[in-house]
Amino acid sequence: MVSRNREKFGGRLAVILAMAGSAIGLGNIWRFPYMVGEHGGAAFVIVYILATLFISLPVFLAEVMIGRRSHTNARDAFARLSRHHPFWRTAGYLTILIPTLIACYYSVIGGWSVDYFFKSCSLAFVHTAPEEVSGLFGSFVSSAWTPVLMHLLFLAVTVGVVAGGVKSGIEKFSKVSLPILFVLIVVILAYSVSLPGAGSGVRYLLHPDWSELTPRTFAYAMGQSFYSLSLGMGAIITYGSYVSKKENILVTSTGTAVSDLLFAILAGFAIMPAVFAAGIEPGAGPGLIFQSVPYVFAQMGETLPVLSSAMAILFFLTVIVAAMTSCISLVEVGVSFLMERAGMKRGRACALLFLICGGFGVLCSLSFGPLRGVQIAGMSIFDLFDWVCSNILLLVMALLAVLFAGWILPRRVVHDEFTNGGTLPVNDRIFPVVYFLLRWVAPVAVVIIFFTNFML
Ligand code: PFF
Repeated sequence: MVSRNREKFGGRLAVILAMAGSAIGLGNIWRFPYMVGEHGGAAFVIVYILATLFISLPVFLAEVMIGRRSHTNARDAFARLSRHHPFWRTAGYLTILIPTLIACYYSVIGGWSVDYFFKSCSLAFVHTAPEEVSGLFGSFVSSAWTPVLMHLLFLAVTVGVVAGGVKSGIEKFSKVSLPILFVLIVVILAYSVSLPGAGSGVRYLLHPDWSELTPRTFAYAMGQSFYSLSLGMGAIITYGSYVSKKENILVTSTGTAVSDLLFAILAGFAIMPAVFAAGIEPGAGPGLIFQSVPYVFAQMGETLPVLSSAMAILFFLTVIVAAMTSCISLVEVGVSFLMERAGMKRGRACALLFLICGGFGVLCSLSFGPLRGVQIAGMSIFDLFDWVCSNILLLVMALLAVLFAGWILPRRVVHDEFTNGGTLPVNDRIFPVVYFLLRWVAPVAVVIIFFTNFML
C-alpha cells in the first residue's frame, strides 16, 4: 500500500539537513567525545574519519538507494525490491523494530538534557560547589518521577514534529535547527578553548597516540561511525524514500557524512578542552556531558556566574536540539510503516508510537532508580536496550542492508540509482569503487565489528 501522493523532501539542501539532523545527535555530543577520550585521542579520530569515508559512506549510500528505489517504508522496501522473498519480507521488520526500541531509551537521555537545560536556567550549576555538581547527576537519574516526566516531555515534542508531516514537520524543523546547532557548537567551542588550561585538551585531540591503536579501536571507531550516521536502523532508508529521483545521492550522502563528521569534531573540541581545563579524566565515560561539563560550568561560575550560566543554557539547548532531530528520524520509521502498512492516519500512528516508546522508555528511565534491582542477563533495562540495539541489532541490520544492495539487487539497479540512469558522469566513473566497497569491504567490516564486540 503506497499512497500516490507520498511526501518528498523539497530539494537537495532539505535532504542534507534532514539526514544530517538524523545523523547529528547524542552520538556526536555525548558518545564521540568520550570514545575519543577512552581510545587514545587523535589516533581514534583519524581511524574514525577513514572508517566514515570508506565503510560507512558506502553503507549510507546503500540505504538511501534502497529507500529511494522502493519509494516506501523501510520494511516494505526489502519486501518490494526482493519481489516478496520470504526471508527479506521478514527481515524487513527488523528495520521497524530497531529504531522503535532505540527511540525508547534515546528519548530518556533527551529527557536528561531537558532537565539539565532547566537546571542551567535556574542557575543550579552556579549555585553548586564544583565538587558536588557531578553528584547532581546520580541523584537526578535515580529519582523516580522527574526523569520520567522529562522523557515524556521530550518525546511528546519529538512526536509532535513528526505529526506535522515530512515537509511541514521534519523538513521545516531541520532547516531551522541544523544551522542553529552549528552556530551554538562553535560558540561553545570558542568559550571552551579560551578557558585557562584548555591547551592540553586541544593537544590531546591533535596528537595521535599510535600505541593506543588496537583491533578494538578499529571496531569501536567503525561502530561509532555507523551509530553516528544512523545506519542499520531504517532511518536512512526511510528518509531515502523521501528523496526525489532527480537528486544526486552521492552529493547528498557525502554532504551528510561530512556535516556529521564536522559536527563530531567540533563537539570534541568544544568538550575536551573544557574537560582538561577542569582537570577531569578524559575517559570519564558516558557521564562526560552530564557530570564533567557541568563541573566546568560550576567552576567558572565561581568567578563569572553570568557567562557560565549562559554557556550552560546554550550547551544543553544544543544537546536537546541535536537529540531531537535524531529522535524524529527514529520515530518517523515506525510512523511511515504504520501509515503505509496499517493504513493509519499520521496523527494516529504518532499517538501509537508515543504510547509504545513512552511506555518502554519509562521502564528504561526507572531502571536508574526504583527498578535498579531488575537485572536481565546482568544488565539493567536501559543497558539491555542499548546493548541489544547498538551491539547486535544495528550491526545485523547494517549487514543485511549492504548484502541486499551489494548482492541481491542487480548491479544494473544499483548503477541506475547511483548514476540516475547513467546521467551523472562523475558518479558513473567512481561506481566500480563504490560497488566494490559495498560488496566486499563493508560486509567484512561489519562482521569484524560484530565479532570484536563479542570476543575482545
Ligand atoms: N545518529 C544519531 C546520533 O549520532 O546520535 C543516533 C541515531 C539516530 C541512530 C537515528 C539511529 C537513528 F536511526
